[in-house]
This record gives sequence, structure tokens and C-alpha cells, in this order.
Amino acid sequence: AQSERESLLIALGFARDFFVKNLSTSEGKSIGLSYFKERGFSPSIIEKFDLGFALDGWDHLLTAAKKSGYSEEVLLKAGLVLQKEGDPSRIYDRFRNRAIFTIHNISGKPIAFGARILTKEKNQPKYINSPETPVYHKSDVLYGMFQAKKAIRDQDNCYLVEGYTDVISMHLSGIENVVASSGTSLTEGQIKLIKRFTNQVTVLYDGDAAGIKASLRGIDLLLEGGLNVKAVVFPEGEDPDSYSRKVGSQEFQTYLDKQSKDFIGFKIGLFKEEIKNDPIRKADVIREVIQSIGKIPDPLIRSVYAKEASSLLDVEEEIIHAELNKSLLKTQ
Ligand code: UTP
Ligand code: MN
Ligand code: MN
Ligand code: MN
Ligand code: MN
Repeated sequence: AQSERESLLIALGFARDFFVKNLSTSEGKSIGLSYFKERGFSPSIIEKFDLGFALDGWDHLLTAAKKSGYSEEVLLKAGLVLQKEGDPSRIYDRFRNRAIFTIHNISGKPIAFGARILTKEKNQPKYINSPETPVYHKSDVLYGMFQAKKAIRDQDNCYLVEGYTDVISMHLSGIENVVASSGTSLTEGQIKLIKRFTNQVTVLYDGDAAGIKASLRGIDLLLEGGLNVKAVVFPEGEDPDSYSRKVGSQEFQTYLDKQSKDFIGFKIGLFKEEIKNDPIRKADVIREVIQSIGKIPDPLIRSVYAKEASSLLDVEEEIIHAELNKSLLKTQ
């Protein structure tokens, strides 16, 4: 007999095929495919990432899936359809009139979808995503890992971005060692997943207040996980997708190489202007850096960074160590 997991995976595979095929219908071509083309996505990248299209309507997928023998129960459990509020016996397609981003597990099987709105409507979410299901535990998944894992191993580095389109645009720029946290804060499960392939992460979050805040949080979690962390700040309002298309792949690569800083350099860079003539702000930043150093589990690596912090921030090493001991005591 088929396990529940197996039947959900088969239904999700059917949905992937359905969304992909929709791109070749006349509506799919004029709306879905042209949306991807406008974003500069090539036919081969569309194929590589199983990009697709959900037609406008309440039951395109539902009807096709039922015709092929899938039960409503399986479609519900797979997160593909929703129950009508007040009348749960009636169900309808979750993804409607949206561009589809297929989310794969590490062996390349579809386990979930992200669906982007095609217009600029303000009262609708930009993305609708699959819910948690027996085969999709968001906190253990990183978008693009299936397509990235070999490159992450080869390069011994993993770029971490926010969004689906950042992953895809970086592939188009020739950078394949990239995964997305999909706009949520990084989890232990995701960090474990990265550690199967490398111990080095470079955080490339969006150049806005939310992105910077998420970078700072992500950096601490990655350090705590024993990873070697770098980060890059993008110009205000840019993310890896928009910036790579703006400057081209050559200059984008150069930007990453030049701007990649370890977490200390990243933090100092963020606050450089503020701390110039403000000793109190500077002390805050020093504490902030020391707090991150305190997350590092390996004492030897900790002391190397303490030395670096001392020289970059122009603070005596003993003071750094004293503060570090204070903050280590606090977390014990
Ligand atoms: P962003 O708002 O930065 O979107 O969210 P984006 O990836 O740059 O998308 P484009 O370029 O506007 O198309 C980053 C990620 O957060 C998740 C998605 O995974 C998105 O890629 N997100 C964002 C959602 O799940 N829902 C939302 O409504 C918005
Ligand atoms: Mn779960
Ligand atoms: Mn963002
Ligand atoms: Mn973005
Ligand atoms: Mn974007």
C-alpha cells in the first residue's frame, strides 16, 4: 500500500506538471510566460525551476486532479485546495491567477508552491504559499537547495537570500550556490541543512530596513550553529534579483566579492557614520559585535574574532575579553 507521504508527493507532482503545462496554454503564454519573460527568465531557467502558472478560476486544478483519480482528501492534505468557509464540504483551488514557483525537496520532488500575484494590487498578499503539510515542514526547507547543493559543495560556500526570484536571478548570473529562506527568519533545521554541504554562508538579504534586521538576526543564528558567516549590504531598495539585473552579472559578481565582509566588518560598516563622533553609540556597536562573537561555540575562533574586533574597533583586547566573559556568563 502507498503511504500517505507517497500519495501526497504524487499529487504534488501532478500539480507541478499541471502548472508547468499551463504556461503553454494561450492564457498561460500571454499572462504567465510573459510575466517571467519581463523578469528576464529564460526558457531553460523556467524549466530548471519548474516555474508555472495557475489559471484564473476556482477549480482548474481541482477538476483536472479529480479526473485523474486524486481524492479531495489528498488534495486538501497536500495544501493544493482549500475548504470554503462556512461550507467545508466545498473546496476550491488555493492558487489562482498567479505565477507559480515550485518548492522541491532535496531530491528534487515538488513538496510545495509559492504563488506570486501578477498585478500590483495592494489589498492582496504578494505571495501565497503552501501551508505546512506532512511532506512540507517549512522550517526544514530552503528554496533552491535541490538546484544548489552540488555548487554549494563545490564552492564550499552558500549564498543565503530572501526570495524565490533572488535565487533564480543569481542562477541566471552564473551563481548556483544560492538558497532562499523565503522571507521568514532562519531556523535551526535550515542551518543543519546547510551544514550538510558547507560551513560557510554569505548572507545577501534585501537592502532595506527589514532585510538588514533579518541579516543581523540570521548572522547570530548562523554563528551559533558554528558556521563561518559573511554578509553583503545592497544599495537601498535593491535585492539580489533587482541589483543583478541592474548592473549585469559581471559587475554583480565583482560587487559580491568586494562587499563580502565577515560579521564584524558587516556590523561596523552598517553603523560607520553613526559612530564617527559619538562614543556612546560606538560603545553600543562594540557591545553588539561582542554579543555576536559570544555566539561562536569554538573558543579558538572566538578569540581570533576578539582580536580582529580589537583592532578594527580600536579597543584593547583585554576589554573585549572582559565584555565577552560577561556576555558568556549571561547566556549560561
Ligand atoms: P520580498 O518582498 O523581498 O519579495 O519577499 P521578492 O522575493 O523580492 O519578490 P519580487 O521580486 O517582488 O517578486 C522575500 C520573500 O518573502 C516571501 C517570499 O518567499 C519572497 O520571495 N514572501 C514575501 C511571502 O511568502 N509572502 C509575501 O507576501 C511576501
Ligand atoms: Mn511541521
Ligand atoms: Mn524583502
Ligand atoms: Mn526582495
Ligand atoms: Mn525582488
